[in-house]
Amino acid sequence: MHYRDCLCGALRPSDIGRDITLSGWVASRRDHGGVIFIDLRDRDGITQVVFRPEVHAEAATAAHSLRSEDVITVMGQVVARLAGTENPKLPTGAVEVVASSLVVLNRSEVPPFPMDEKIANEDLRLTHRFLDLRRPAMAANLRLRHRVTKSIRDVLDTEGFWEIETPILSKSTPEGARDFLVPSRLTPGAFYALPQAPQQYKQLLMVGGVDKYFQIARCFRDEDLRADRQPEFTQVDIEASFVKAQDLQDLIEKMFQRIFREARGVEVPVPFPRMTYADAMNRYGSDKPDTRFGMEISDVGDVFKESQFKVFRAALDAGGVVKAMNAKGFACITTGQIEELTELAKTAGARGLAFIKVENGEWKSPIVKFFTDAEKAALSERLKMEEGDLVLFGADAWEGACTVLGRVRLRVAEIQKLPIDPLQLNFLWVVDFPMLAFNAEENKWNAVHHPFTRPKAEDRELLKDPSKLGTIRAEAYDIVLNGVEIGGGSIRIHEGDLQSETFSVLGINEEEQEELFGHLLRAFRHGAPPHGGIALGLDRLVALIAGEESIREVIAFPKNNRGAELLTGSPAAAEMKQLRELYISSTVKPKEPGAPGA
Ligand code: AMO
Ligand code: AMP
Repeated sequence: MHYRDCLCGALRPSDIGRDITLSGWVASRRDHGGVIFIDLRDRDGITQVVFRPEVHAEAATAAHSLRSEDVITVMGQVVARLAGTENPKLPTGAVEVVASSLVVLNRSEVPPFPMDEKIANEDLRLTHRFLDLRRPAMAANLRLRHRVTKSIRDVLDTEGFWEIETPILSKSTPEGARDFLVPSRLTPGAFYALPQAPQQYKQLLMVGGVDKYFQIARCFRDEDLRADRQPEFTQVDIEASFVKAQDLQDLIEKMFQRIFREARGVEVPVPFPRMTYADAMNRYGSDKPDTRFGMEISDVGDVFKESQFKVFRAALDAGGVVKAMNAKGFACITTGQIEELTELAKTAGARGLAFIKVENGEWKSPIVKFFTDAEKAALSERLKMEEGDLVLFGADAWEGACTVLGRVRLRVAEIQKLPIDPLQLNFLWVVDFPMLAFNAEENKWNAVHHPFTRPKAEDRELLKDPSKLGTIRAEAYDIVLNGVEIGGGSIRIHEGDLQSETFSVLGINEEEQEELFGHLLRAFRHGAPPHGGIALGLDRLVALIAGEESIREVIAFPKNNRGAELLTGSPAAAEMKQLRELYISSTVKPKEPGAPGA
């Protein structure tokens, strides 16, 4: 006996009359008065198999005992389904296999969840991921991920890039998250860090003359998890020498064209639009604007420069801004919804969320009593206010006010259910990011991208002026799709002195520079070519193409939102003997993986 002639999604009317052998899982069994119908499933699809007692009594009897997820081999003949019983939803829906023999290869226990429905309990799915992956939606996602990765490899190969692996047991490299550490047995008391990204290695490859590198690279970041964040995730990591930002952007656009052509059959228009970081923040309150809908933010500081309203007054006097946004047609917002938005604004750092509703020709708002007629007229014109509109305000320091309204904007669009075409693909390059951001808590400057990103040539000298550090623009770019940051990169510093100067501005003294980054500084003094690169978040990209909300749906064995991998049960306790070998003493008894407080 052989297992199969084809997969379960393959049979078509042209196969009618063929004797065929199929193997797979029992997706369902229906007993129609002695005639047994089986849906036989594998990763490729479903074929209906019919056991007719009058055709093959023995096979039909055996089929009675079949249960969901039993693994079987069926032999039989491909026939046309009876007129009226075709299933147009299945590619194989015009035919069925009349079974002449059945072999049960393995039995299955009753699955812990129905295999053909959406399951709300994600932990249950992840605990039994081997079953969950059998579901057609998951198989489709894994196939899509393979296709996308394949397209990427093909494009990069054609463009002359070499795929090169870099170490997983490595040295800490700053990407802004916490490191995962691995204790070294051979060097007591020392630790490897798992890479947050292969950033330094890929730059060292450029110094090594590799010229064009890529890697489908696993990255590890110990950060708080969300739907679009995993502690280990995959980047399409790219670096090239003797390139300008434009060259890398052209390459990525070409890659996206190929990916979307091959994975979705659509032509993506290039070049993608560009927007500066300042514009993105001013108009959308975000460095990853969702431009599929309007509701843009306006600056109304000039309108209120003489304002009597203390909130606006205080913001402007402190050198901040007053921003406003017109949520068209949303004056019908309920008190509960206003409260929800205000809470959201507060979590984003605002002290409140002033608003005006335009209802029955009147402005309904606790704050309009502070406005002069001239201010009202100017505001109305600036925001094109009409009957039925809702205007929301943010008054604060520039970045805070923008961010708050940006968050509120996304939530309003959700509540209002703004019509968004599910097929729309709004790619956007966000460029001219600031190089440095001041962290008030730590009282120091941090790199916005990472410390290896070069300043724009025209801003280079500002590094020497402590009062201007916040205004330096970096040669950095992010790629955004439908409001999701799917990648980011930059042109790098390749000169030892500029790198050293940048480290100093970041508060890393010479001794620390030598200890942490001596290898890089040395490399830069030995003929480093100009170079730059980018990394795409592969999980996010595939999730977007698949139309999934969570990247967990496109990762075979993801961690849940408490960082636990429930199928095998990691993280887990280690043996005392293992810990002793690693010179680690622990007094904490580990909890169940993923348990609260674990
Ligand atoms: P960056 O930190 O922006 O850049 O990461 C690049 C892209 O990786 C994705 N990403 C994540 N996806 C899932 N889970 C996470 N925890 C996670 N963190 C990031 C995002 C992001 O845009 N070395 C630089 C790149 C470079 O300069 O070339 C880097 O890592 O989609
Ligand atoms: P208050 O005078 O503090 O009660 O605030 C009056 C109104 O302004 C309320 O609707 C607040 O929600 C709102 N508000 C307070 N602070 C801000 C701010 N920084 N930006 C926008 N609105 C605010």
